[in-house]
Amino acid sequence: MDKIERMKDGTEVTIRPLGPQDTDRLMAFYGALPEEDRKYLKFDVTDRRAVVKRLRRVDAGDDIRIVAVHGGLIVASGALELSGEGWSKHQGEIRVIVARPFQKRGLGTIVIRELYFIAVQNQIQTIVARMMRPQVGAQKIFRRLGFREESMMPDFVKDLQGSSQDLIVMTCDVKELWKQLDRTFSESDWQRCRD
Ligand SMILES: CC(C)(COP(=O)(O)OP(=O)(O)OC[C@H]1O[C@@H](n2cnc3c(N)ncnc32)[C@H](O)[C@@H]1OP(=O)(O)O)[C@@H](O)C(=O)NCCC(=O)NCCS
Repeated sequence: MDKIERMKDGTEVTIRPLGPQDTDRLMAFYGALPEEDRKYLKFDVTDRRAVVKRLRRVDAGDDIRIVAVHGGLIVASGALELSGEGWSKHQGEIRVIVARPFQKRGLGTIVIRELYFIAVQNQIQTIVARMMRPQVGAQKIFRRLGFREESMMPDFVKDLQGSSQDLIVMTCDVKELWKQLDRTFSESDWQRCRD
């Protein structure tokens, strides 16, 4: 289910599921992220053992991961973490990371759109995004797509350097997200193609 997507500047990327053969490519992608982009992530993405442990969740069907590939390199990754059973089984948590040289070119929005389709296929009704206060790019993109801040827990999590940070929890109804994604693409002069 590989898809060719075109970013705002016309650069093409392939969007595809993360495969078992991608671990080295994924580590190279994570390793090239500037500290500022890694510092506030949920876990240390340069720790191969931690990454491999997280990837087992994909094998178990708990997470669904996609990547954007350009020139054979991973340039963005996206995950939908499924809550599983019980009272939160209708929820999925979304996570997106875009390589610095590819940021602000529309790729984050493309990855979120793909995760949206995956959420619909998995009967997800509410998408959750969690981030630390300094992740301003993430807050902007999610707010623009109709996510609203549900809660803010002061000093609730620690960044990679051990400093306490506020945790912001944003949520979005899947139907509302589609409306905003549709608007975002139709209102821009962004010429896109998809195979
Ligand atoms: C958040 C992130 C995924 C956004 O990716 P992106 O490819 O730059 O997103 P887009 O190009 O689709 O941008 C969407 C909008 O957000 C804006 N934006 C993106 N990053 C921004 C930043 N750091 N500050 C302010 N605005 C920002 C873009 O300018 C764009 O708005 P516009 O269309 O009005 O110009 C990327 O900055 C990133 O990987 N950050 C580090 C990891 C992270 O925080 N992930 C979120 C964890 S849930």
